[in-house]
Amino acid sequence: MKGLFITFEGADGSGKSTQLRFLAEYLEERGVSVVRTREPGGCLVAEKIRELLLSKDSEMDGVTEALLYAAARAAHVRQVIRPALDAGRVVLCDRFIHSSLAYQGYGRGLGTDLVWQINKPAIDGCMPDVTVFINVPPERAFERMNENKVHDRLESEDLSFHQRVFDGFTQLSKGEGIISIDARGTKFETREIILQKLMPYFVSAGIL
Ligand code: TYD
Repeated sequence: MKGLFITFEGADGSGKSTQLRFLAEYLEERGVSVVRTREPGGCLVAEKIRELLLSKDSEMDGVTEALLYAAARAAHVRQVIRPALDAGRVVLCDRFIHSSLAYQGYGRGLGTDLVWQINKPAIDGCMPDVTVFINVPPERAFERMNENKVHDRLESEDLSFHQRVFDGFTQLSKGEGIISIDARGTKFETREIILQKLMPYFVSAGIL
């Protein structure tokens, strides 16, 4: 039995982590076996790379940054994601390849071709079945993000960086396998939209 791999993407402050939690709770209440995980992180070595990536002392160029995100992803895929999918579980992952494409590809200006090249061996064919892009205008996400006083290295970038990341996500969401969710309403309204959009995937995978 093959599980279902769903990733959540969006700007810092978009509310994607809350939506991932809502979906996990919905599925678990219905007896579905869910793995909740996140990037960068999800396993010991990747969580260590996360610390390095998010620390404000870690000055680095864009290529180094992209390679570190990919290294964390390689470990996460092999140690957590693929084994869970092979066991028939639903994997809900907070960020995945589209974050690298948006932040490093568009935000840092590396371009999506290079970011794909770097990530190919990391992902090793383990692509999401579907990606949910929580679409919140960047000014609003930026405002929400700034309500939290402590910022990590990426969050500390200026609005123009976050605008490029958002434009990147918008471009990416025109592609296949990614659903853009209008998240301007309340978090409960957004939850309903996500459930409705994902239901066909659960039904066709025989999960609900
Ligand atoms: P996240 O865990 O979403 O931060 P928070 O929990 O504080 O919302 O993500 C950490 C940061 O890493 C976020 O700013 C986005 C960035 N990121 C990339 O730049 N590239 C990537 O491939 C991933 C997975 C995340």
